[in-house]
Amino acid sequence: MNILAIETSCDETAIAIVEAEGDTENARFSVLGNALVSQIELHREYGGVYPALAKREHAKNLVPILEAALEEAELLHEDTQAIPEEVRSAITKILEREPGLEEQFLEFVSECEVPAIDAIAVTTGPGLEPALWVGINFAKALALVWDKPLIAVNHMEGHILAALARQSPGKGRTSELEISNVEMPVLALLISGGHTELVLMKKWLEYELIGQTRDDAVGEAFDKVARMLDLPYPGGPEISRLAELSRSSADSDSQGSTLESPLPRPMINDATCDFSFAGLKTAVLYLLKNDILMNRRPSKDKNIVEIADEEKAAIAREFEDAVTEVLWKKTSRALEDSGAQTLVIGGGVSANTHIRRTFAHKIQEEHPHIDLRIPTNALSTDNAVMIALAGFYRAIRQDFATDIIANGNRSLA
Ligand code: KG4
Ligand code: ZN
Repeated sequence: MNILAIETSCDETAIAIVEAEGDTENARFSVLGNALVSQIELHREYGGVYPALAKREHAKNLVPILEAALEEAELLHEDTQAIPEEVRSAITKILEREPGLEEQFLEFVSECEVPAIDAIAVTTGPGLEPALWVGINFAKALALVWDKPLIAVNHMEGHILAALARQSPGKGRTSELEISNVEMPVLALLISGGHTELVLMKKWLEYELIGQTRDDAVGEAFDKVARMLDLPYPGGPEISRLAELSRSSADSDSQGSTLESPLPRPMINDATCDFSFAGLKTAVLYLLKNDILMNRRPSKDKNIVEIADEEKAAIAREFEDAVTEVLWKKTSRALEDSGAQTLVIGGGVSANTHIRRTFAHKIQEEHPHIDLRIPTNALSTDNAVMIALAGFYRAIRQDFATDIIANGNRSLA
């Protein structure tokens, strides 16, 4: 079955075409086409994702990306298609809120053959609603002209399935993936810009929320702390880079922080599997205001307070250490409480080198029977391949949608 998947929940416009076969227990995937445009550069000047801009950019990017993905999949064939008047007017209605998209869309579909795909999967939440709607309306319009069924995918289910997927052995190509030999229950630590949660899957696609953040998501904390350190958006990769620099620098103490007062590890010893990162972020703010900046006052020019690069790196490292320790402690508790056999880490923050390394090491040391699965970096951050994977799992359950709507707060459990 060929699935065309569309992802526009945040600041990545992505479309993938994935050939999928097998069943729940043993699914195999071949990524035929995968196109993605990141809007990060555009949002950088706002210090975060600006929803109206994201929506406009998705509308601008979708047709070119679709064309690129189909072309890569060798499914793009020129042909003149007559679009009946009633279909045209239905499309006008579907795309009326996406300025500029209708014209591009009609031009594209009237010049190419209906491609050999079997279903269209699209992210319907969680995410930014204006951004989600663009992808949904585009998917609806495609489903209508090409007469294909639609699948409404939960973005977080995509992150879980992408984390479970591994490169097929012996294929030697990153585009060949499979989901197999999964021992239940699966515990998923989902860490992204909008989420920090521990989810338990005892049966395929049935979820139980066993822990979540009570305030900020971990990715949000990375981004906010990065802003305090005057680092560009998105902050996660920047903090990670500086923290690694601090760890590898010759004069740093490789055993721990180089800061005089360590940052807190919020809720690390409480009995729940919940998290809190707002206090950690505030602690960084106070550290900067009270300790570092105060100490700087007697310097030559009172008005210019710059943090030295080494200081930034030391803070980034201590922040990353604090986050990682809390994430590990709670995950370890959840593994013990739930009897999980498999652990997956998904979401953008799972691209973090220190978190990946620490989890791999700790699992080996403390829970050697657990099968730890972490996606490749490209599958960790938002992408459309993960939406295709989830789309396949839904399609084999005949879970097709007749009408779909965006739900910014869509949950798994
Ligand atoms: O899953 P994702 O791509 O989008 C959402 O669904 O939110 O996650 C984005 C988040 C951002 O907060 C970004 O700073 C963070 O993931 N992130 C990282 C790293 N790469 C991305 N955080 C820490 N270390 C990284 N290497
Ligand atoms: Zn995500």
